[in-house]
Amino acid sequence: MSCWKTENLLAKSQLTGNMSEFSLPKSFLKRMEKKLGEEYPQFLESLDQEASVSVRKNPIKKSNLFNHEEAVPWNSDAYYLKERPEFVFDPMIHAGSYYVQEASSMLFANGIDFSTDLRILDLCASPGGKSTLLLSKMSDNSILFSNELVNKRADILKENLVKWGYTNVVATSNRAEDFSPLNAYFDVVLVDAPCSGEGMFRKNNKALSEWAENKAFVCSIGQKDILDEAIKLVKHNGLLIYSTCTYSEEENEQIVEWFHKKYQGMVLPASLNLKSEWGVRKEFVSVRKNIEQEINKCYPHKIRGEGMFIAAFRIQNNLHFEHKRLKKFQSVLSRLSKDELYEVGNFIDSTKHEIELRKYQDSIYALPKPYLNEVEMSFIKFNTILAGSLVGKINKKNKELIPVHNLAMSGLMRADFPFMELDKREALHYLKKQDLNKMPENIPGGWFLAKHQGTNLGFMKNVKNRLNNFYPREWVIRKNLPNWDVA
Ligand SMILES: C[S@@+](CC[C@H](N)C(=O)[O-])C[C@H]1O[C@@H](n2cnc3c(N)ncnc32)[C@H](O)[C@@H]1O
Repeated sequence: MSCWKTENLLAKSQLTGNMSEFSLPKSFLKRMEKKLGEEYPQFLESLDQEASVSVRKNPIKKSNLFNHEEAVPWNSDAYYLKERPEFVFDPMIHAGSYYVQEASSMLFANGIDFSTDLRILDLCASPGGKSTLLLSKMSDNSILFSNELVNKRADILKENLVKWGYTNVVATSNRAEDFSPLNAYFDVVLVDAPCSGEGMFRKNNKALSEWAENKAFVCSIGQKDILDEAIKLVKHNGLLIYSTCTYSEEENEQIVEWFHKKYQGMVLPASLNLKSEWGVRKEFVSVRKNIEQEINKCYPHKIRGEGMFIAAFRIQNNLHFEHKRLKKFQSVLSRLSKDELYEVGNFIDSTKHEIELRKYQDSIYALPKPYLNEVEMSFIKFNTILAGSLVGKINKKNKELIPVHNLAMSGLMRADFPFMELDKREALHYLKKQDLNKMPENIPGGWFLAKHQGTNLGFMKNVKNRLNNFYPREWVIRKNLPNWDVA
């Protein structure tokens, strides 16, 4: 993602001719030549090659997908594909069975010890690649706050998190400074900063067309602002991970130096435990006498992935979060009545999961049991766009639960809930909200799940032998289906 602030402010770069030598900004090429020395021709060559395509499977949605593909060495759920399929026509991606993520972007997680319960904040989260990865690795009793400032991008983040289907997550659309009620709360804060995006040049034409001479400088101002807030949110001995997808020193090495200097005594270097055989270049920046900060760089001629920069810091601030601060917030969640619990019980076996069912306003949520106070505070203090799994609402007339799509995507649905299996063609019709020309067997009426390869696609309802499709209108596949046989 390129630096958001600069999009309308900066003049478009002087771009010329073909990809590596001509279409890339001359000053960028000159800088890279100086930086890479004899490796520069290989770097240039790599920019003319197609970017690798990699996907990461969702561990809570079991499938046989990609089992024969080559594994990404640094993530046990991830695979390289031989070619780029038209993902939009694969029902399994809409079901949240996997996420398409560039492989270098998965490396940051190797610096995190997931063996204990963690409170993690992903401060710059959309579209959600790193947040979905974190959810897959975190224990069930951990919590992720996933935040995206820009409204439109927050919608995309929400869609991806809903499809990923985890309950131990709160998504917000706030400025970093709004998180002050959670100062010193987090074990890990990830700042995947908006940047000049040079590392994405071959993958993403937008990054190239938005690049400009002074973009690194403008982005670096925003990066410092975000880090100034992020450091307050980390608890004593917690981890702050900073990453960009650019090569510019202003946004990388210089930010690291600035951070150590400004927060002397509060910041120690941490390692990401990345292996050189993966093609990551580990370097050290001398930040103070006897203190060297590890930095990790990815170049596309060295790694099977795109350009990336990652550094991790251990924060020593002697700040400890007092949980009673959360209790001060007024209670906005209410318990469900017996009848409501019974209704929800038709969809969820709540005894099987570490969740609490609560109502906020008229909606019923399945919330992570240990974090009810946090959710409550989030509803009050933050612009909360997602909390746990939204279950649905009780129909005021007949008192029955009207379930929502989030529930179908979550891992909470009862295993014995009625369903109809759809083949690929039918599944795509479902995802386009088109007629299926098929009736479920043994489901005389009421709610059921549409499934593809055993994975939930969404809800349907059989009303007097008429099928209603409850797939969310805003996520419908807009593209015309290709004219192929998709059996
Ligand atoms: C590099 S992208 C994040 C990519 C994401 N982490 C992922 O892996 O899918 C940076 C994001 O930060 C957002 N952003 C911009 N300014 C921000 C700010 N001040 N605070 C938080 N997020 C911001 C941008 O809109 C953008 O979505």
